[in-house]
Amino acid sequence: PTITYCHPNGSRDVVDVVPGTTVMRGAVMNGIDGIVGECGGQAMCATCHVYVHSEFLDELPEPNDDEEEMLEETAAPRDEERSRLGCQLKMGSRIPAIVVDVPETQV
Ligand code: FES
Repeated sequence: PTITYCHPNGSRDVVDVVPGTTVMRGAVMNGIDGIVGECGGQAMCATCHVYVHSEFLDELPEPNDDEEEMLEETAAPRDEERSRLGCQLKMGSRIPAIVVDVPETQV
């Protein structure tokens, strides 16, 4: 699977990951700026907040209650449609590719 991270300054990072990798983990493992993943992927910190590009939204599972709660705590404003926690988005056959905008801030 392929994850594309678009940064506020207009630059992009494209990484290939093994199936089962989350959008948060893919960033942390590849040293991508702007995604922290402080809680290690437990939906408890919201420092992995991303804005998913609209064309990929249909493929994503709905946020569970934990994610929903943390999305109220994001440092950058929540976008009702596009905001997700990167640690809850697992790449694989269901999501073979995704493009996300990295927010201005996670803290
Ligand atoms: Fe903490 Fe995603 S890494 S909520």
